[in-house]
Amino acid sequence: MHPEILRTKNFVRDAVALIERAADTALSERGVFRIGLSGGSTPRPVYEALAKSRAAWNRWEFTFGDERCVPPEDPQSNYRMAREALLDAITIPQENILRMRGEEAPEEAAAHYEQALRERNASGYRHDLLLLGMGDDGHTASLFPGTTALGESQKWVAANFVPQLGVHRITLTFPLLNAARHVLFLVNTRGKERVLEEVLSGKSDYPCARVRPTAGNLTWLLAE
Ligand code: 6PG
Repeated sequence: MHPEILRTKNFVRDAVALIERAADTALSERGVFRIGLSGGSTPRPVYEALAKSRAAWNRWEFTFGDERCVPPEDPQSNYRMAREALLDAITIPQENILRMRGEEAPEEAAAHYEQALRERNASGYRHDLLLLGMGDDGHTASLFPGTTALGESQKWVAANFVPQLGVHRITLTFPLLNAARHVLFLVNTRGKERVLEEVLSGKSDYPCARVRPTAGNLTWLLAE
C-alpha cells in the first residue's frame, strides 16, 4: 500500500487529530488503544497538546519505540520526556504504561520489554498506532544505519549498539514495527529534506524506508 503523505503548517493540531481518530477507531473495534510513543524533540509539543484531550485514558496502552540506556529520571530518557509532556498530566493506571527499563543492562532490558509485550499478546503484539520519528541519517526508533538490530527477524525488541554515537540503545525491531495497524511518522523536515526525498521515493535503503506495515497503513506527517 502507498504511504499517505501529509504536509502541514499546523503540525501539532494535525498530529493530535490523527491520534484521536486512531484512538476512536481502535476503541470502537477492540476496546483498547495501543499507541507506541517516539522519542526525540519533534513529538514533545504533540504530547503536550494531546494531554489536553478528553480521552478514555484508562483504555489507552502506551509503549515506547526505543529508549536510551539511562535511568528513567535522566534528561535523555524518552520515558521522562513522555512523562513530563503527557503521562503525568493524565489519569491513567500505571499498568497501562509499558516503559523500557533503560537503567538495566541493554540485553536484559530488551528481553524484559519483549516479555512484557508478549504478556499482553503472546501471538503477536500489534500497535493500533505507532508514532515514529526520522533522524537526519535516516534512522528511526533506534535502528541506525549499519547497526545489527536492522537484521533482526525474530525478536520484537533488541539491544542495539550504535557505533556512530558510541552508545547502546533499546529498540523495537522491524518485525514489530511492521506488524502495526498504522504507523505515523512525525517529522520536522528542516535539515532533513534530502534524506526525506530519498525515503519517500521508495528507492532508498535508509532504516525508515524499511518501515512498511505488512497489513497496516503508513502516514507521514511533515511539518513545513
Ligand atoms: C530517539 C528516537 C529517534 C527520533 C529521531 C528524530 O529516541 O531519539 O526515538 O528515532 O525519533 O532521532 O528525532 P527528532 O524528533 O529530535 O528530530
